[in-house]
Order: sequence, then structure tokens, then C-alpha cells
Amino acid sequence: MAKVLIIYSSTDGQTRRICERLREVIKQSDHDVDLVAIEDRPALPLANYDRIVLGARIRYGKHAPEVLSFIRDNAKLLNAGPHAFFSVNVVARKPEKNRPETNPYVIKLLKQIPWRPRELEVFAGRIDYSRYGFVDRQMIRFIMWITKGPTALDTVAEFTNWGRVEAFGRRLARF
Ligand SMILES: Cc1cc2nc3c(=O)[nH]c(=O)nc-3n(C[C@H](O)[C@H](O)[C@H](O)COP(=O)(O)O)c2cc1C
Repeated sequence: MAKVLIIYSSTDGQTRRICERLREVIKQSDHDVDLVAIEDRPALPLANYDRIVLGARIRYGKHAPEVLSFIRDNAKLLNAGPHAFFSVNVVARKPEKNRPETNPYVIKLLKQIPWRPRELEVFAGRIDYSRYGFVDRQMIRFIMWITKGPTALDTVAEFTNWGRVEAFGRRLARF
């Protein structure tokens, strides 16, 4: 039995939901899994874990600053083990941008960080206009319009491919 830590950076909950699914899948292999928001990371004894999985959402083209600082602060430990990273964004709903090698945010992040994750993934997120404030709603709607996505304000569109999330979980459960 291994100890796995899943850390998430999530604003509207989809990255957290993906992490919860990963936890379920990894637990099926009898591993011990802790799930924690990145805001709560200071209390964590990272060295106690056999595998760390970091999942981070994109907003306005960026992963949260805490994600970058977590990676920079722990680069040595992260590079030394079988640790994993995944990004959640809606650009990844497009087949030609739904792999770590083809997703612009993953490509950009790897240029910015001193970590080469042993496992890397990207998942498409969710759009729920009713959750956003006025400015965010207008901005997302505009982005969806230029990228030919849904623009109706009652849209709740979950683009996440749960089969791929589960396959990633099975990969992460293998040691
Ligand atoms: C204010 C806002 C800005 C966003 N900006 C981007 C973006 O620049 N590129 C992108 O692919 N997705 C963008 N998204 C989509 C989010 O990545 C998607 O909704 C994801 O599911 C959010 O994850 P979370 O629910 O864990 O916060 C944005 C979403 C919001 C609400």
C-alpha cells in the first residue's frame, strides 16, 4: 500500500471533482489517499508521500500563482519521485488540444517551471454561466463565441471526459 497526496487548485469545483474521482480510483488499489486544497498545503509533510498529484485549473490563461510557487518551492522533491501534474481548462475540449503535448497551457507551464512531472495530463473542464459574476460571464461568453463554444446563458456544459480521468487514476495507482 502506498501513500498518495492529491492537491488541487480549483475555483468553481471541477478540478476538485476530478481529484475526488482520481481518489476513488486510486483507493480501489488499496492505496491510502489524502486530498487537500492547495491553500492548505503548508501543513503537509510532503516527504511522507510516495506519490504527489497536483491538479490545477486555468483562469484567464493562467494557473493560480500558488500552483507556481508550490512547484518552485518543492521542485527538488517533485523531481525526485513519481509525481504527477494535470491541468483543467476548456481549450482542452478541442481534440487537437486535449493532450499534454498539444495543450497550450501545459506547454507554457512546462517552460515556466523547474519540474518535469513523471505523469502529465490535461482534462477539459466545465462551463456554468450562472455561477459567474457579470464580468467573468461576459468574458467567458466572448471566449466561447470566438472559439465556437456554447454562449447561451443557461448553459451548463461539462466537457470532462470521465473515462480519461479514470484511466489516469489507474495509471497513478500503479507503482
Ligand atoms: C473567469 C474564468 C476564466 C477562464 N479562463 C479560461 C481560459 O483562459 N482558458 C481556458 O481554456 N479556460 C478558461 N476557463 C475555463 C475553466 O478552466 C473551467 O471552467 C474549469 O472547469 C475551471 O476549473 P474549476 O471549476 O476547478 O475552477 C475560465 C473560466 C472562468 C470562470
